[in-house]
Amino acid sequence: MYDVEQIRGDFPLLAQMVNNKKVAYLDTAASAQKPACVLDKMSEIYRSAYANPHRGTYYFAEKITAEYENARKIVQEFINAADSREIVFTRNATEAINLVAATWGIKNLHAGDEILISEAEHHANLVPWQHICEITGARLVVFKVTDEGDFAAELFKQKLSAKTKLVAVTAMSNVLGTIFPIEKIVSAAHQNGAKVLIDACQFAVHHRIDVKKIDCDFLAFSAHKTYGPTGVGILYAKAQILESMPPYQFGGDMVDNVTYEKTTFAEIPARFEAGTPASVQAIGMGEALLYMQKIGLDNILHHELEMTEYMEEALNSVPHLRIIGQPQNRGGVFSFAVGKIHPQDLAFVLNKENVAIRIGHHCAQPIVNRMGYTSVARASLGLYTNKEDINSLYEALLKAEKFFREE
Ligand code: ALA
Repeated sequence: MYDVEQIRGDFPLLAQMVNNKKVAYLDTAASAQKPACVLDKMSEIYRSAYANPHRGTYYFAEKITAEYENARKIVQEFINAADSREIVFTRNATEAINLVAATWGIKNLHAGDEILISEAEHHANLVPWQHICEITGARLVVFKVTDEGDFAAELFKQKLSAKTKLVAVTAMSNVLGTIFPIEKIVSAAHQNGAKVLIDACQFAVHHRIDVKKIDCDFLAFSAHKTYGPTGVGILYAKAQILESMPPYQFGGDMVDNVTYEKTTFAEIPARFEAGTPASVQAIGMGEALLYMQKIGLDNILHHELEMTEYMEEALNSVPHLRIIGQPQNRGGVFSFAVGKIHPQDLAFVLNKENVAIRIGHHCAQPIVNRMGYTSVARASLGLYTNKEDINSLYEALLKAEKFFREE
């Protein structure tokens, strides 16, 4: 039995009153709130086990090194990777994708090659590829989604060719909520000889990830969306591919031997972790993933599917509200517009009612434009979302709609 009220009790911020009222936090797609166990773990490390990892031989240094490497192991198990050496800690998912672009991309892409992305990518899985295309002469190719925002195999396959060297695709759109059939995409891409990178930022918040089953070559997500701290994310890459990639950044801890004449580099994953890492954040990330596993990923998904349905019904009951994107396979991210009300005005009224949503282009301008907008409102849910949050959203939207209609 999923006790959402008990789960909410794990999140100190959700108990915070603003103007003597609870806040309906419906912006988990932008960043999730943090359970106390993550905050406590990080505080405990800073208070009793802090030093620079991989460098000292004294008690604190050895303790944090063990905790940091244990966090890598937790991530490995969370995504079912074959080897913890396949997990690189980065600053966030954006840095993970930039790492692949700047190392694998520059080494392997040439004029005439193509990088295939979906129309629904976050800028983090679009702009780095544009940049690498400028450097290498490769071409960025985009496959469309349907008018409903769904993946369509024929639209994808039309663009997949022998020239495609990389398919970089989100597993779940941060604007439309669409879940992409990543296993099918990987299989088709591999049959064409292309590598595949999965942006799992939204997907990892709600779904079990099994990189062995997906068989993707690269996968990235951020800790701050999976109930962990800011400042850390991960890149997963198959060991053989990671071993073939040149370093990304250069400096301490990523080297084997340094002389003025020549530097040799460390083995993976250290080769890609130059400088003092965000060790405490990585340990916090590990704790957050353990927290999700303790609740149970299937239980989280089950609860969220129920909340997704409830939210869809609530939104559809608001006069003049249009949900942007009606994909058949969707997660709990809803972008919407209410009549001609500017999203900024909508957010203003919602904020007065203590309902926290995001407005704007959501770092995914092309798909927002394709759907006919420049800015939209977005409500998204997490494992702590309850019906009360959604009821508050519904009431606040009714108020806003009425207010602006009467004006
Ligand atoms: N990528 C995050 C979002 O969609 C920030 O809101």
